[in-house]
Amino acid sequence: MQRRPNRRTFLKTGIASALLGPRLDVKAAGAGFLPVVVSSGNGLAAAARAMQEIEDGRDALDAVIAGVNIVENDPNDMSVGYGGLPNEDGGVEVDSCVMHGPTHRGGAVAALRNIKTPSNVAQVVMERSDHALLVGEGALRFARMHGFPEVDLLTDRAREAWLRWRENLSTRDDRLPAHSPEDADVGRAASLPERNHGTISCLAVDGRGDISGVTTTSGLSFKIPGRVGDSPIFGAGLYVDNEVGAAGSTGRGEANLLNCTSFAVVEFMRNGASPEEACLMACQRIVDHNKVARLRDDEGRPRFGVSFYAVSKAGQHGGASIWGPMRYAINTGGESAHHDGAHLYRRG
Ligand code: GLY
Repeated sequence: MQRRPNRRTFLKTGIASALLGPRLDVKAAGAGFLPVVVSSGNGLAAAARAMQEIEDGRDALDAVIAGVNIVENDPNDMSVGYGGLPNEDGGVEVDSCVMHGPTHRGGAVAALRNIKTPSNVAQVVMERSDHALLVGEGALRFARMHGFPEVDLLTDRAREAWLRWRENLSTRDDRLPAHSPEDADVGRAASLPERNHGTISCLAVDGRGDISGVTTTSGLSFKIPGRVGDSPIFGAGLYVDNEVGAAGSTGRGEANLLNCTSFAVVEFMRNGASPEEACLMACQRIVDHNKVARLRDDEGRPRFGVSFYAVSKAGQHGGASIWGPMRYAINTGGESAHHDGAHLYRRG
């Protein structure tokens, strides 16, 4: 059985922020809920758009997808959808998954090329197939069949960044020679902390208390073609349980794939943790399991970052990162705002 973290454990691991996430009022009248949208730090506009959609009576899943579409379509955001940084061959491959709490359905696409808004394709996988995850060429053919227009996702800005990386390729790719897990030097030159894992996660509880979420990304910059991160994988980059809450993540996908950490956040909340506590416990889980020398710094701390965002059915929200400071976006109506989350370690 999962124990809730105690204060001593948190202090021992250097956690700086308060333990409990802010609690929102739940409307007593008519058993309604005050809607809330929670997103990663790059999701201020997405959260505002999602809230508008919820206020207009749309389902929370349609709302969060409409929100992240803003970032997917933005050529200046180099971590999600159109304009995202490509793989090592210069091809942009995007990943996304969506989960609809009230029906406990989900859809996902991975290593999808040429489609600006993978979150919409993920929703169509959920609604118009008996599958949960389509990848690569099959996902593209499915998207084409459903009328999604194909576009070249590689913008000039992303192509130039890729070119610069290619020109320095010899020390900064993801391919490793045979080595032992104790070897701290292999792969170090890949400069993990500098690699771009940018992603947007957006979660919402609507006025009925129904919960949905989406995560969408162009994945790790300059990855090996075919690499799939956590964003399209249920339980890794996103998880929703309509009776409990939802969690999403950004950062090093491999860590979430190996720890099923978004699922863990929801389970921690089921067992009584606040969203912030649950996010912090997930960070700690990753740290505890991070045994490979090249992924640890001289003090044994991860040489990578992962952040979590969570909302409970009652509308409590919280976030936490392995490396702080961290902040996430919140909208409870009107303007979105950034909210400080917790962290295990602080840079600088
Ligand atoms: N979390 C995004 C990725 O690793 O692809």
